[in-house]
Amino acid sequence: MTTPVATDLSALPTLSSTLSELNESQLNEFTAGAEALIAQTSDVASLQELRVQLTGKKSALTQWSKQMGSLDGDAKKTYGGWLHSVRSRIQVALGAQQEQLAAQALNDKLASERIDITLPARGAQKGHLHPVTMITQRMQQFFVQAGFNVATGPEVESDYYNFEALNIPSHHPARAMHDTFYFDAHYLLRTHTSPVQIRTMEQSAPPIRIICPGRVYRNDSDQTHSPMFHQLEGLMVTESSTFAELKGLINEFLEAFFGKALTVRFRPSFFPFTEPSAEVDILDDNGKWLEVMGCGMVHPKVLTNCGIDADKYTGFAFGMGIERFAMLYYGIDDLRLFFQNDVRFLKQFG
Ligand code: FA5
Ligand code: MG
Repeated sequence: MTTPVATDLSALPTLSSTLSELNESQLNEFTAGAEALIAQTSDVASLQELRVQLTGKKSALTQWSKQMGSLDGDAKKTYGGWLHSVRSRIQVALGAQQEQLAAQALNDKLASERIDITLPARGAQKGHLHPVTMITQRMQQFFVQAGFNVATGPEVESDYYNFEALNIPSHHPARAMHDTFYFDAHYLLRTHTSPVQIRTMEQSAPPIRIICPGRVYRNDSDQTHSPMFHQLEGLMVTESSTFAELKGLINEFLEAFFGKALTVRFRPSFFPFTEPSAEVDILDDNGKWLEVMGCGMVHPKVLTNCGIDADKYTGFAFGMGIERFAMLYYGIDDLRLFFQNDVRFLKQFG
């Protein structure tokens, strides 16, 4: 019988499907062709397909092997040896190619996922706090270390807390100085952080040591004034608070805050809620005095308004303009720059 092996392995020599019609050199030729085909496969799937066609149930090799039983003695030995050699050469070739393709796939993967460490770095975009926030924290840090607690109060405040309780009745000329934003006859945007003094003293008994940083509002705008700005209020009430202690604390704070000695003056001033009162000015780089805070001894009437015995207790208070400290600290001559949100300006404080 000489019917050709049905195969689509068209590159291989066409051999008889009858084992006894084959000779060694035909089988060698067949095997060499199979090895060449195997070596040519370029992916695992076609290698697998080839494996099935060369060694599977329907392969010529398997068909030939099935005929081994019908051979006698010597022929069985001879053909057995040949077929064994064919099968093992094909299996070795398949295994080698399998390994080769796997290595190739790994290399391709590594090449395509390679990280080019010579590329320039993208650079971390790191933000930072607003300069006014950083200055507030720096100020706060000193007072917290000095034993003050941090208090807060509402920005929408009542006339009573913002003025009345602070000894500024409705007819008082001091009201005009505040350029208040009113909502109606009773509510307003707080013009200073001093109402937090009242709220604190109403709720707690001496000794009291608090600071209150926060936003305040006034209808006011020029190089050193902005309609929204920040103050840091301080209040201390004990049985023995004195103006000397206030002055000492302020001087100590200024030295710690700026880290150097500055030219400072306590200028006698007036606030209805303190007596005596002073304002503190600092000489800036251009030789101009910049007012940074108001302060004084808490007026006995204010203590009484809050239910504190003014014969037993004395207190002092201060209200610092936080942007003014930022101006001096960073050498900025226009306070409004802090609120324009120009990134080129803000970036400099990182
Ligand atoms: C007061 O507001 C008082 N409450 C301060 C005080 C507290 C006195 C406790 C006594 C006891 P004055 O209006 O001066 O005071 O404002 C305090 C500080 O806020 C000023 O010294 C200044 O540094 C700052 N400041 C005032 N108005 C503005 C504004 N429009 N923009 C930026 N900073 C301002
Ligand atoms: Mg003032």
